Amino acid sequence: VQALLHRFEVRRSLHTRLCTTKSMLTVNGQFPGPTIYARRGDLVTVDIVNLSDRNITIHWHGVKMPRYPWSDGTNLVTMCPITPGNKFRQRMILSDEEGTLFWHAHSDWSRATVYGAIIILPPTTESYPFPKPHAQIPILLGLWWNDDIDEVYQNFIAEGRDPAAVDAFLMNGQPGDLYPCSTQDTFRLKVETGKTYHIRMVSALMHFIVFFKIAGHNVTVVGADGSYTKPLNTDYILIGPGQTIDFLLETNQPPSHYYMAYKIYTRGSNDTTPRSPLFRSDYVPSTGILEYVGNYTPPPSPLFPPFPEAWPSTTIYFSNKLRSLANDKHPIDVPINITEKLFFVLSINLWPCRANSCLESDRFLASINNVSMIMPETSVLEAYYKGIKGVFTPNFPDHPERVFNFTYVSLGQNASHPRFATAVYMLDYNATVEIVFQNTILGNGLDHPIHIHGYSFYHLGSGLGNFDEARDRLNLNLVDPPFMDTVIVPRFGWTVVRFKASNPGVWYMHCHYDRHQSWGMKMVFIVKDGDRPEEKMLPPPQDMPRCDTPPLDYYY
Ligand code: C2O
Ligand code: CU
Repeated sequence: VQALLHRFEVRRSLHTRLCTTKSMLTVNGQFPGPTIYARRGDLVTVDIVNLSDRNITIHWHGVKMPRYPWSDGTNLVTMCPITPGNKFRQRMILSDEEGTLFWHAHSDWSRATVYGAIIILPPTTESYPFPKPHAQIPILLGLWWNDDIDEVYQNFIAEGRDPAAVDAFLMNGQPGDLYPCSTQDTFRLKVETGKTYHIRMVSALMHFIVFFKIAGHNVTVVGADGSYTKPLNTDYILIGPGQTIDFLLETNQPPSHYYMAYKIYTRGSNDTTPRSPLFRSDYVPSTGILEYVGNYTPPPSPLFPPFPEAWPSTTIYFSNKLRSLANDKHPIDVPINITEKLFFVLSINLWPCRANSCLESDRFLASINNVSMIMPETSVLEAYYKGIKGVFTPNFPDHPERVFNFTYVSLGQNASHPRFATAVYMLDYNATVEIVFQNTILGNGLDHPIHIHGYSFYHLGSGLGNFDEARDRLNLNLVDPPFMDTVIVPRFGWTVVRFKASNPGVWYMHCHYDRHQSWGMKMVFIVKDGDRPEEKMLPPPQDMPRCDTPPLDYYY
């Protein structure tokens, strides 16, 4: 049943939501884009044909691409963009991934409309670590702007402030019936009583961490980011941009219509601190309807789920609750002797306007260890492979003091003006890496869903405050940490991850909030080749998009 050769035509097509029609970039005219089905270990080939008027790259989010960064699809990190009228054959090399991942554009903000699910089933000779579900249901969360996303992006870049507020939250491309003009634009999931449905949830949101709930039903989480987890029974899902969650839904309630809904999580009803204009107080939850089939009178309106209201602690973060299976069939391999112990401070910075120190026109920037990454004008991977000088410097800094003074930085007094650089951190083949991500304060604090390409990290733990070596290290989970490609570093807190640098190549790491990424919260790891032939990067394909014409667009 699996077509392992796909053709992705990137082109403009017209789509209408909230009674507004716009021309937007899509793959094959579909929104959300086509779902790729594969099995663990498959090689999937995708021909990307750019029939649009924009430069484009397509990234396989969470696919590790062993030894083959050439098909990773990150604009100006692993490739130069596919220019209008050109094409590129990408190889999506599945290795240990099993579960749900997604693909999305990875150039400017095109991913707002250019994304789709990747569903990776067990090999035919193997089964799930849970009873075989009755059906597979992808649920993709996304955003809708009535304006052209390119306009939103250009205005955002020009102003250096938050982008225009979104107009709707979408579930499988539909806003749901609480939005004006949207009764027909509601995702309906028809289910039979007494079955188990495998929901494959993808957050393709550009910003916002959200709560997802189904009225009247608990669900059981069984996987995240393309890796299985121990079953976790829960009445809500918390998911950040770039994360995927696999969960089982048992249709064990009285036949009826139930809302499935999600909305951004808030910090409690008595919190009066002003928020960025991006976070509007009138946001409407996106809804879908879970419809039991059968003979019954549906309620006049589906039951609506209650949402947790506050942000009490890090306990709401799913990554803290998830556990790997960590058994004989699904072993884990957490590095214990660490050769690279890194401390990365994640910060939002204010950059004064050039003329004088007028605060109103300050712009936002974002940094890791005070470096705000500038995108190069050509591919880092190509420069590394061909030894081209002047594209990047191999000196991304560690933070030797391993502490962040929380009292120092606050809004209006943020003196930490970042340094601009295209700096990479070089890792030896098979280096064992630990990163402590330390979040900082700006205003109300911001979470950062940090995503790495080419790897998944073991998420050993997260907590509030400064990471405390003496206290917090004792509580890290080395027994069954989840294996994730995107971890949420909580506001005012920290997260510790580990990975083994066994995949040579050039790998991007960044905040999966697009505005933070565009402000500079991003960096690149280069993992050097090992000595043996099977430890080296493979050569590039013949049809790599050329880098000799300067790309039309890139992040500043
Ligand atoms: Cu979801 Cu760098 O990507
Ligand atoms: Cu961020």
